[in-house]
Parts: sequence; C-alpha cells; structure tokens
Amino acid sequence: MTSVTPASVEQLPLRHLRRGKVREVYEVDAERLLLVASDRVSAFDVVMHERIPHKGAVLTQLTAWWLRQFASTVRHHLLSADADEIINAVPTLTPYRATIAGRAMLCRRTDVFPVECVVRGYISGSAWKEYRAHGTLAGETLPTGLEESSRFAAPIFSPATKAEVGHDENITFERMSSLIGDSEATELRRLSLLVYDRGRAIAAERGIIIADTKFEFGRDREGRVTLIDEVLTPDSSRFWPADRYAPGRVQPSFDKQPLRDYLDSERRAGRWNGEAPPPPLPDEVVHATSVRYLDAFRRITGNTLTTEST
Ligand SMILES: Nc1ncnc2c1ncn2[C@@H]1O[C@H](COP(=O)(O)OP(=O)(O)OP(=O)(O)O)[C@@H](O)[C@H]1O
Ligand SMILES: [Mg+2]
Repeated sequence: MTSVTPASVEQLPLRHLRRGKVREVYEVDAERLLLVASDRVSAFDVVMHERIPHKGAVLTQLTAWWLRQFASTVRHHLLSADADEIINAVPTLTPYRATIAGRAMLCRRTDVFPVECVVRGYISGSAWKEYRAHGTLAGETLPTGLEESSRFAAPIFSPATKAEVGHDENITFERMSSLIGDSEATELRRLSLLVYDRGRAIAAERGIIIADTKFEFGRDREGRVTLIDEVLTPDSSRFWPADRYAPGRVQPSFDKQPLRDYLDSERRAGRWNGEAPPPPLPDEVVHATSVRYLDAFRRITGNTLTTEST
C-alpha cells in the first residue's frame, strides 16, 4: 500500500490571503473565506518548530461548537466545518480532504472592524501590568485592592487595536467609538459581553475558567454585524483549570502549561533567550500539550474530538 502524504495547510489551491501564527486564510470567492487551523503552537509570542497533534482540529471544532450554542444569540460567519460539506461547496478541494478534515472552516466573508473586542472576567496579562503600574485599564480607573488574577465584580469590555506588528494596544471605549462609530461600538460591546457571559458559564460548569477572551466582528455583504474568526478557544482566550484557581499569582494555563514550564526551564538553564528561534521540544512536552487541548475540547463540549486525519 502506498501512503500519500497529505498536502500541508499552506498548500491549498486557493488564493492565500494571510498567514497567522497558527492559521492560514484563503479566499474562496468574494463572499467566502476558508480558515484553516494548523497544528502550530506559539508561546511567549514565539512559534515553535514542532506541531501539536490535533490542535488545529480542536481550535476549529471548538469554535464550531460554540457558534452552534450561540446561534440564536448572534449572527456568525460559519458556513461549515465539515470536510464533506466544504468539498461539496468548493470542489477544487476534493484532493485535499485529508489536509482540511476537522481543521477548516468555510466562512461568510466580512469587512472586519479594526478592533479586538476583548472581554475580561479576571485581571491578568497586559491588564494586570497596567493596573499594577497605574491602577487603570486602558486609562480608566479600576477599583483599588485587586490582586493578580482577581475576578472582576462584572466582566469588563476592554477593546484593543489590531496591531499588524508587535502587541495590540488597549484603547478606551471612546477611542473605539471614534474609530468605528458610536452605535457600532455599543453593539460590539453588547454582543461581546453577552457571548462571553454565556460561554464562561458553560465552561465554568465544566471546570474551566475562561479568564478573558478576544472576539472579532465584521459586516457581512448585507451590512449585518457578524461574529467572525475563532471563538472562545484556548488560543483566543485564557483558559484556567478551576480547581487550581487562587488569586494573588499567575494562574496555570489549562492548555499551554507543560510547554511554558519547559520553556521556562530552558530559559533558566541559559539554553534559550526567549526569542525566535525556539528550542526543540521533547516529545513528552508535545504529547502533554496535545492531551491538554483534547481535554479542553472534551470537557467543554462533552464530546470526544473526531479527527478523521491524524
Ligand atoms: N469571516 C471573516 N471575514 C473576514 N476576515 C476574517 C473572518 N474571520 C476571520 N477573519 C480574519 O482572519 C484572520 C486570521 O488570521 P490571524 O492572523 O488572526 O491568524 P492567527 O493564526 O490567529 O494568528 P495570530 O496568532 O497572529 O493572531 C484575522 O485577520 C481575522 O480578522
Ligand atoms: Mg488571530
């Protein structure tokens, strides 16, 4: 029997629009995009050389699962995340079934609002840094006395600009309004808080804290506000194991902790300077990370990930 190596996610026969750290974006036509999640993984903003088995499928299938939960709450971009349906709709992908299976989303194409709609239920990351230094978040005063990883009394909408290079910059709601318009900003805030609130309640029942997350929205061809991109995945959000939660320190990451721990140990040993190129990852670290992603998927959805291509 001859084995055929599937084409890589970078090689599909469609116009390639964009390569992210993890995902490839292809144009299908004026109305549709194909988003393909690879198994690439990044930590500390550096993309590793190794691939994490099933990670791309977890990102894609988790997004699809959430969007089904939210179908009556918000208009969204997903047309299909099923390989057979995608091939039916885009027959040129027929020979690439193994490459796209589980990891591709056929989406309604939109004009993207140039803001990242971040919702924070807990204070962490760049928000914690700013608060510790100035007592503010994007310039707005927060209550005093918060510890690192504290839960906010109510989730905070905390938009950011989309930086092409470097880090996104937190901006005020007023700044967001001046960028995209008042009523648009108000609507994106309403939808972001609504989806986060519903999502975090579902995850919390299943032992995962979604500490914060980032949504993106666009306008579809009819001008309707539409939730796009990946939704409530470990890559767009901070997932924390609820049973290990304790404010006053950095929380372990549900998905990337084995990877982070390994990279920290390489740094401490003086074998890595924290920048690209990353050190090679031992198989155990790759495996442990893969297990975490699969576990996150299983816990949240209650289903085992069906990956037709492994
Ligand atoms: N329905 C849609 N219409 C138009 N653009 C979309 C749609 N859905 C997602 N996008 C865009 O697809 C792009 C995905 O690429 P992105 O660079 O974010 O990939 P990534 O792998 O998540 O990388 P990074 O980790 O650097 O964010 C984003 O720019 C997003 O705005
Ligand atoms: Mg992205």
